[in-house]
Amino acid sequence: MAQLSGKVVFITGGASGIGAALTARLGAAGAQVWIADRQFGVAEELAQRLRDTGARVHAVELDVRDPAAFATAIAATVQTAGRIDYLFNNAGIGIGGEVDTLTLDDWNDIIDVNLRGVVHGIQAAYPIMIRQGSGHIVNTASMAGLVTTSAQAGYSATKHAVVALSKTMRVEAATHGVRVSVLCPGVVRTPILSGGAYGRNKSVSREDLVKLGEALRPMDADDFADRALRAVLRNEAIIVVPRWWKALWYLERLSPALSMRTAAAALKRTREVQSAVPPQ
Ligand SMILES: NC(=O)c1ccc[n+]([C@@H]2O[C@H](COP(=O)([O-])OP(=O)(O)OC[C@H]3O[C@@H](n4cnc5c(N)ncnc54)[C@H](O)[C@@H]3O)[C@@H](O)[C@H]2O)c1
Repeated sequence: MAQLSGKVVFITGGASGIGAALTARLGAAGAQVWIADRQFGVAEELAQRLRDTGARVHAVELDVRDPAAFATAIAATVQTAGRIDYLFNNAGIGIGGEVDTLTLDDWNDIIDVNLRGVVHGIQAAYPIMIRQGSGHIVNTASMAGLVTTSAQAGYSATKHAVVALSKTMRVEAATHGVRVSVLCPGVVRTPILSGGAYGRNKSVSREDLVKLGEALRPMDADDFADRALRAVLRNEAIIVVPRWWKALWYLERLSPALSMRTAAAALKRTREVQSAVPPQ
């Protein structure tokens, strides 16, 4: 982690969950961190708390759906710090539910944040990194970007897109001296497990969502951040944490049919939870 000392880092969705844990770990390692979030008050509180421990952390109000605001925030960081070493495109929302329950607004919302938000970050920071001849873009996808999921088609579609974007870009970026990795968390204990500040589930209550998440043995966010950062420093291309989730990824590649059968079993369990919930 000593390599992170003095590095300039910009993290979207840094106010909560994984982003907050990454920020704390990076700040403790001596990096200068800009946390950009739609929840500005929460981001500012976290930044102040970490500054009190001696870390160099700043909060920025940003909605990643706004490309001009993203470009302005990155430019301001570079103006202040002189460069940008890491961009963590971490902000994301979960909109769960079977496809027949999703409205066009649901599709637009999840694509705008989870996919377009990442694209906006790349548009803002990549040209600067190319000019620098250095930098590392870390896009957050999910295990839902690697395997067949159940009742999460919108989320899974955006996360598969982020994996595809990251793999293709990694090959190109290497020729400019820029690194690209994609983070694929399994299940991590954060507010997103109960819907998060901006997400929703079309048929499962927040309480039951937590139960479904807990059944998947969520990892602690600080532990996750530590492992993920070590893999980023090793410049791994596709980072799966916790590691045991790699078994599902192998299964997907070995036998997509078997992977779909696993997803069908998961869908059955989700429907059982749904049927126990009175219609809203
Ligand atoms: N927690 C998990 O189990 C898990 C699993 C796989 C992937 N992920 C991914 O990890 C990332 C972080 O999620 P988390 O678990 O920490 O959830 P979280 O809800 O705790 O944090 C998400 C953060 O993103 C911010 N955000 C949402 N929309 C935004 C927008 N339009 N502009 C700016 N900020 C916005 C929120 O305010 C929040 O601070 C997400 O991309 C998520 O999809 C999480």
